[in-house]
Amino acid sequence: MAYKTIKIGFIGLGTVGQGVWKHIEGNRRRLESRLGVSLELHRAAVRDLEKERPVTIPTDKLTTDSMGVATDPEIDIVCELMGGTSLARELTLAALEAGKIVVSANKALLCEHGQEIFAAARRGGGHFFFEASVAGGIPIIKALREGLVANGFKLIYGILNGTCNYILTRMEREGASFDSILDEARKLGYVEADESLDLDGWDTAHKAVILAFLAHGKWVTYDEMLVEGIRKISQEDIRETAALGYSIKLLAAIERDFQTHKLFISVRPSLISRQNVVANLGGPYNGVSVTGDVVGTTLYIGRGAGQDATASAVISDIADAALLLRGDRVPLPTEEEDDIRLADTPCGILPLDHVRGEYYLRLTVKDAPGVLAQVAAVMAGKNVSIATVNQKERPGQASASLILTTHESNERDIQQTVKDLNDLPTVLEEPLLLRIANFEE
Ligand code: NAP
Ligand code: HSE
Repeated sequence: MAYKTIKIGFIGLGTVGQGVWKHIEGNRRRLESRLGVSLELHRAAVRDLEKERPVTIPTDKLTTDSMGVATDPEIDIVCELMGGTSLARELTLAALEAGKIVVSANKALLCEHGQEIFAAARRGGGHFFFEASVAGGIPIIKALREGLVANGFKLIYGILNGTCNYILTRMEREGASFDSILDEARKLGYVEADESLDLDGWDTAHKAVILAFLAHGKWVTYDEMLVEGIRKISQEDIRETAALGYSIKLLAAIERDFQTHKLFISVRPSLISRQNVVANLGGPYNGVSVTGDVVGTTLYIGRGAGQDATASAVISDIADAALLLRGDRVPLPTEEEDDIRLADTPCGILPLDHVRGEYYLRLTVKDAPGVLAQVAAVMAGKNVSIATVNQKERPGQASASLILTTHESNERDIQQTVKDLNDLPTVLEEPLLLRIANFEE
C-alpha cells in the first residue's frame, strides 16, 4: 500500500538534529509501518555547510537559509533543533503562521515565549509539539497531559538536568574535579551551547516552568521562583552530606498548596536521602516524581540529555505530527488553558515566609573563641533552630568549616540568616545553603 509522504525540514543539525536524522533513517521501515505514512527528510538548515558531521547527510539537502526551511511550502513538519530564543523564536513563529507543525526541543524558547507560540499555532492551524524540551527521553509531557489528565498536582519534583546530574554523580562517586567532568559532559553532547544555562540552574528552571504550565496552567516568571546552580558545591559538601545520609542533587520542585492555590517553584542543589530512588540516579539520568491527587505518586526515570534519548522524544513528536497530518486529532492547549489548565482555580505564588523546610548550611569561619556563639546568636535571632553542628578544623589554617543542619524553618528567615551570617567578619566565605528535600508526597 502506498503511504502518504510527509516532508520534514530541520533547522539545526547538531547533537539532537543528527540523532533524529540517524534514527529516522535507521528505523524507517518500523516507523512508517507503525504510523502509516512515509517520512521524507526534505531539507536541513545549518550555520556552517562545510562542517564535518558524524552522521552522513547528502550535501544537496543542506542549506543556510533557515527561514526558507521554516516557510517552505513543501515542508509539513519543521523541527527547530538549533536552540536560542531570538532567531529560533522568529523561525518558529514564521513556520506556525504558515500553518506548519513545529517540533521543538527548545525549552528556553518555550519557557519565555510559550503563550505567543501556542497562540501562533492556533492562528495558523498547525501545531506545536515539545516532548524533548523536558527530561530528554522521558515522555513526561505526554504523562502529564494524557496519562495523568485526571489529576491535580500537589508536588512535582526531580532531576531535570543531565549535565548537572552527571557532574554531581561523578564528583560523589569518583571524587573527580568539576572542570574535568564538565569537559566530558561537553564531549558527550549533554551541555547547552551556553553552558551557564546548565550550571547556574536556568535550564532546569526553563523545564520547571514548562511542567508548572502543564500542571497548573500558569506561566511562572523568573522573578517568581528561586533558582540556584551547582557551582558552589564542593567535595567537602559531598563528603559531609554523605556522612549525614544524603546525596546532593540539583532538584526542581513545583509545590502547590491546594488550600490557598499558591505555587512555590524552586531549582536548587538539595540534600536528598540516599534511600530515595531519585538520590540514586546517576550520570545524565533524570527522574521526575509526580504526585497527583487521584493516582498518588508516580516516578519517571530515564536519560535526560544526549543525542539518542533526545532523538527518541523528538521522533515521538514527529509521530504525533504525522498522525495529525493523516487525520487523527491531537489537541493543542486552548486559549483558556493558557490561563488555567487542569485547574479549576487560578494559582498565585506562595510567599517565602509560607515555604517551610530543613536546611544544610556550610560556613567557613575564623577558628577563634566565640565564633560558634556568634553564629548561633544570628540563627536564634531569626528563629532558625539548629539541629546538628559539626566543626571541621583545617590543618595549618586559622579557619574551620562549620557544618550545620536546621530544624524546620521558613524560607524567608533562612535566607535572611544566610545574609546576616555572610556579614559577620568571622565568616570568611559566602555561606552555602542547601535545602533538605524531605517532601511530603
Ligand atoms: P547543537 O549541537 O549546538 O546544534 C545546534 C545546531 O543549530 C547546529 O547544527 C547549528 O549549525 C545550527 N544552527 C545554529 N545557529 C544557526 C543558524 N543561525 N542558522 C541555521 N542553523 C543554525 O545543539 P543541540 O545540543 O543539538 O541542541 C539543540 C536544541 O535542543 C537546543 O534547544 C537544546 O536546548 C535542545 N536540547 C538539547 C539536548 C541535548 O542533550 N543536547 C537535549 C534536549 C534538548 P552548525 O552545525 O552548522 O553549527
Ligand atoms: N543541557 C541539557 C541537560 C540537555 O544537560 O539536561 C537536555 O535538556
